[in-house]
Amino acid sequence: MSTGPAPCELLTRHAGLLPEHGHALDLACGLGGNALLLCRHGLQTTAVDDSTEVIRQARQRMAQTGLSVEWIRADAATVLQANRYAVITVSRFLDRGLARAIERALRMGGLLYYQTFTVAVPAGRGPKNRNYLLQRNELPGMFPGLSVVAYQEAMQRDPYQAGLVACRVA
Ligand SMILES: C[S@@+](CC[C@H](N)C(=O)[O-])C[C@H]1O[C@@H](n2cnc3c(N)ncnc32)[C@H](O)[C@@H]1O
Repeated sequence: MSTGPAPCELLTRHAGLLPEHGHALDLACGLGGNALLLCRHGLQTTAVDDSTEVIRQARQRMAQTGLSVEWIRADAATVLQANRYAVITVSRFLDRGLARAIERALRMGGLLYYQTFTVAVPAGRGPKNRNYLLQRNELPGMFPGLSVVAYQEAMQRDPYQAGLVACRVA
């Protein structure tokens, strides 16, 4: 059985915090490494990407895993209904304009896992557009409505990416 694409380091490292039940969303999922981990954990999992080709490939790969993820081709902004998800994961994708909607899309007690590139990334690695890089220590401040559970400015395996786990408590 294929194990599929790898989840981000943040999710792997803090998988012990995941709830046993509930609806999880992998936003801008790519081939869905995060989604597959969430689904294997037992969560009802939706994975969203705006690329038709990416979603086609993700569906094809999942067929080899025996898992059941709901793959949706859509813009990230369209799936962030309020109070819906127990878990949201975002990795290697940055749209600061979605931060409030991501906070609101979590149910009370819900967890956000967010890992992406920072300005420390050398040229030629990570996004070409520097607007898609986090400033130093920016990530916790992007989600003022959530409580920080864990934060790393430089992940161990991916030292040019920061990672935040945060919880909706109000
Ligand atoms: C660098 S990949 C990261 C994929 C995956 N999260 C990972 O860490 O491997 C970024 C993904 O975001 C998707 N994407 C870009 N803009 C998007 C948007 N507005 N809504 C949904 N997906 C988007 C792209 O199609 C691409 O698959």
